[in-house]
Amino acid sequence: MNEKSPVPRLGCDLADRNDPAEIYQEASKYYRGSMERLRYTAGGADLGGHVRRMPVKSHPHVPGVRLPKPEAPPVPLLHALNARRSSPPRTSASVDLATVATLLYAGYGVTEGNGNVHRRRTAPSAGGLYPLDWYVAARDIAGVGAGIYHYDPLDHLLEPCAGADSLVHLESAVLSPDLVRRTAAVVLVTALFARSREKYGLRAYRFVLLEAGHAMQNFLLMAACLGAHATPIGGYFDSEIDEVLGINGVDESTIYAASVG
Ligand SMILES: Cc1cc2nc3c(=O)[nH]c(=O)nc-3n(C[C@H](O)[C@H](O)[C@H](O)COP(=O)(O)O)c2cc1C
Repeated sequence: MNEKSPVPRLGCDLADRNDPAEIYQEASKYYRGSMERLRYTAGGADLGGHVRRMPVKSHPHVPGVRLPKPEAPPVPLLHALNARRSSPPRTSASVDLATVATLLYAGYGVTEGNGNVHRRRTAPSAGGLYPLDWYVAARDIAGVGAGIYHYDPLDHLLEPCAGADSLVHLESAVLSPDLVRRTAAVVLVTALFARSREKYGLRAYRFVLLEAGHAMQNFLLMAACLGAHATPIGGYFDSEIDEVLGINGVDESTIYAASVG
């Protein structure tokens, strides 16, 4: 390696250089006096020039489905924490739009602020950069056609992305197809890594995953409050799900999902 190379040096000699997880864990650590090095990775450098500040994806050319205002019964937090369970899907699952609207708001809705940038959400976000986008695969949501929608939290609406035939592909992309086949809806959380990598370099990947966990827990606790069945889904063929959503799996990739019914 060239002495002036900006590629980060592994700080801990115990890291197994053949194990990508250990290499990443080590390479993304903060060390006193060497935090800047995190930015100087090939990927991070690439991003610098062309990252667009896009706090949320938007599809203004298609008419969206306006979502009702979020509403929930006054359930104590302790009750919701005790009641939350990964529940198997019901056979005749159907949910109403109000439930979906409240769940999406709980997960990643906008709580305060104006304009398009730096509006605060229900979930904490490193640097307030909000790298996640949410999609809904609607199978049986009352009043909404079957298909895939993108959630726009700024305007609280669903934007159609793909038709009902995409649900078949989604089903086969999940390791437990019943989680899709027998539920009313599946939410899919994607990350647009550049939003966070621009500031945090290699450490961004940690932050993005942590944020998805925060947001999904909001979603699941709200499902418990509303008496809806919900199960987090991590078992899926990544590139097949990304293809269903029309994303390339590098700049934007699916990192989490959940079924609701
Ligand atoms: C990151 C993550 C991924 C998961 N992926 C799946 C999945 O693909 N399929 C599934 O049936 N359950 C999945 N689960 C649910 C777990 O099986 C469940 O949380 C666990 O059995 C504990 O049960 P509880 O959630 O009811 O407390 C996942 C949970 C987490 C946190």
